Amino acid sequence: MKGREIRKAFLDYFAQNGHEIVPSSSLVPADDPTLLFTNAGMVQFKRVFLGEEERPYKRAASCQKCMRAGGKHNDLENVGYTARHHTFFEMLGNFSFGDYFKAEAIAYAWEFLTKVLGLPKERLYATVFREDDEAEELWRKISGLPAERIVRLGEKDNFWAMGDTGPCGPCSEIIYDQGPEVGCGRPECAPGCDCDRFLEIWNLVFMQYERDESGNLQPLPKPSIDTGMGLERIASVMQGVQSNYDTDLFAGIMQGIAELSGKEYRESPEVTAAFRVIADHVRAATFLMADGVVPSNEGRGYVLRRIIRRAERFGRTLGLTEPFLFRLVATVVAEFGDFYPELKRAQGAVEKILQIEEERFLETLARGLEILEEELKSLSEKGAKRIPGEVIFRLYDTYGFPYDIVRDIGLSRGFELDMEGFERELAQARERSRKSWKGGLTKAPEVLKDLTERLSETPFVGYEGLSAKAEVLALIKEDQEIPEAHAGEKVLAVFSRTPFYPEGGGQVSDTGLALAPGFKAEVKDVRRFGNLILHELEVVEGTLRKGMEVDLEVLSERRLATARHHTATHLLHAALRKVLGEHVRQAGSLVAPDRLRFDFTHFEPLTLEEIRSVEELVNAKIRENLPVEVKMVSFKEALSMGAMALFGEKYGERVRVIKIGDFSLELCGGTHVSRTGDLGFFKIVAEGSVSAGVRRIEALVGEPALKWVFSLEDERFKLAGLLKCSPSEIEHRVSGLLARIKTLEEEISRLKRGEVRKTLEEKLQEVSEVSGVKVICAEVPARDASELREMGDFFRDKLGSGVVFLYAVNDGKVQMVAMVTKDLAKKIPAGKLMQAVAPVVDGRGGGRPEMAQGGGTRPEAASGIKEVLLEKVKELVS
Ligand code: ALA
Repeated sequence: MKGREIRKAFLDYFAQNGHEIVPSSSLVPADDPTLLFTNAGMVQFKRVFLGEEERPYKRAASCQKCMRAGGKHNDLENVGYTARHHTFFEMLGNFSFGDYFKAEAIAYAWEFLTKVLGLPKERLYATVFREDDEAEELWRKISGLPAERIVRLGEKDNFWAMGDTGPCGPCSEIIYDQGPEVGCGRPECAPGCDCDRFLEIWNLVFMQYERDESGNLQPLPKPSIDTGMGLERIASVMQGVQSNYDTDLFAGIMQGIAELSGKEYRESPEVTAAFRVIADHVRAATFLMADGVVPSNEGRGYVLRRIIRRAERFGRTLGLTEPFLFRLVATVVAEFGDFYPELKRAQGAVEKILQIEEERFLETLARGLEILEEELKSLSEKGAKRIPGEVIFRLYDTYGFPYDIVRDIGLSRGFELDMEGFERELAQARERSRKSWKGGLTKAPEVLKDLTERLSETPFVGYEGLSAKAEVLALIKEDQEIPEAHAGEKVLAVFSRTPFYPEGGGQVSDTGLALAPGFKAEVKDVRRFGNLILHELEVVEGTLRKGMEVDLEVLSERRLATARHHTATHLLHAALRKVLGEHVRQAGSLVAPDRLRFDFTHFEPLTLEEIRSVEELVNAKIRENLPVEVKMVSFKEALSMGAMALFGEKYGERVRVIKIGDFSLELCGGTHVSRTGDLGFFKIVAEGSVSAGVRRIEALVGEPALKWVFSLEDERFKLAGLLKCSPSEIEHRVSGLLARIKTLEEEISRLKRGEVRKTLEEKLQEVSEVSGVKVICAEVPARDASELREMGDFFRDKLGSGVVFLYAVNDGKVQMVAMVTKDLAKKIPAGKLMQAVAPVVDGRGGGRPEMAQGGGTRPEAASGIKEVLLEKVKELVS
């Protein structure tokens, strides 16, 4: 059975058994700051397991894109050296949300493996958690497995947790016995052994608990089921091969690597590892970038960058020294694009970004080699034999220079490596990367966590109107709940409902007032925290009490100005895709009342024409005065309508769609104007780079756009005033001035040249004679080596026959040139002269018989040059 057939058989089987087939979610977890990447099928259902979210179905199945690169579940450095490790993989899973439990989960798994896939029962084992008698009993009844093939194991093997926190529970694994010839052969080899004989193929998790931050287990609202079966692994079993990398899922990519490198997969252990690393990493990189991750120096982008560089490094062992990964993207897309259409959409952009990243890395590699050479030289000079960890890390981190290249080169020159120091620096860097994605949430005070449990979701009523009556449900000050707040106090408040838009989806929060008879407070900032909407407010007059009713009023100008910029962001996004291509995807945005900032994937700076086309298109859509419609549809419908799903955002089953005529359709929770004409006028004011493959546009609409044009005009008037002309004459005036500056500069340099010439002619009078040879030795006002040479030529030509030695002092350094006319060059080679003279100024130098150059670092000794020179000439002549 081919990989794609197994995928289909799995989903078909569970669909027949009443499961909703749910598409894979993004590798970038929707709204979970505790998780770097989606690492299991259950991730998109986390809130359903926790009882925080309802879905219209109680059972589901999926084939989920997963990524494990470091941390609890995987170590990047192992990938490639084993038959099974991956960074990216696909996980088949079925899920029950408080519907069926252990018995059905076991029965489904057993039936699918033995009936649908037809695996021989004699090869199968089941493991259950230490104290799970129930599971053991069920296995016996349902599968008829004999007692000795149902094994009890401890927490390491049979308790699954999403991470340090989140849903978890005891699990039961189904094991496939590959036979004694595959295993380690030790007498104690049994299920649970780390060798490859007893292969865990399917993990059934009996989700029963949520682990909190202090490690305590709380029961989930309803016992649930989460299962996971790695597609690559089950494919290897079905295809009777010893490694996941030998399945048809990787065949195309292996073929591609073979064609690029001229090597054969499995030609030698080294080559095998390189093929596997490259195959895994290019697949991971392609999927990650299709989900909008781009290489960077922190968080997810940093992991992607490391993967690309690691692949590059292994490419070198195959003799691939030019960018090559980007050439494999098409193969990955051909293999997986049917099931994951986002790959097809992203292919062009992924190839470009990858190529740029590879080129840059190869450049840094070259630069790193230079720096390493310098470091080694200075270490040798100091007599050191050990490359400090800090140096290895700096090369690794700043220049992206792989430490094993440092090791190879270092060792071959007899250096040791301070790997401990390196590890220490690395650990600090990891900590930095972890911090950058963990957000501030872990620091949230206990009181907020309590409130999220006690209170239900705050209804947002701000789409319909800008004001609402609401009850005060909680007041918080300095991490404590308080009963009331008085004038002058700043507090956080939770209301029974709110018209205030909390910061989100790039849009800044609303501000406004909370009012009641005798009471007034300013709402300064509004944010979501879990299910709650928190209002930061400052009491201006009166007292705010828990239980009190207030009128909440959103500041309407700010809201409206923000809405204009939000609608403009959608128009801009659609226009960019029209003008630049479908590879453009949003990579981040800021929507404020006075401006918008939009980051998107694109691989080169926009030309002026492109910027103008985008501006024209957006302004045309504004003039068409298109209706901006808001619709609630199912996620599937939204996608089938062609909505642009933005990665990194979370969508429940019903999603909000913003439709602007037939021009733009996006999933969005933000606030918008009702017709595009409300935007007035759109203007891009800046375009630049954020990182490789990501550009940023800043733009304005409405009043800020008009003001921007005014400020341009003001500048024009100011310039005209300075230039004493009318605005329309500025260009003419400035070109006149530039021409005049040029003439003046030419005049100055003519005068200067005359002066220099005069100096040189004076120096020409200072000719010495040594044993009949004319020698000029002089300091000259040259600014660089080429001027020095020019002056040398001048003197030499004037002398006709003789020796010229000139030097100049610039920036505390001495530059020197020696020239000898042809007739004397054999006898008095310029190179020899330079070698003899340079040490006077602590310098070095050399060259050919007629011309030599040198440099020194002790200008204060330059007055001694002449004596040494004359002596050397004398010595050579005699
Ligand atoms: N979530 C479980 C796992 O990843 C099924 O193994």
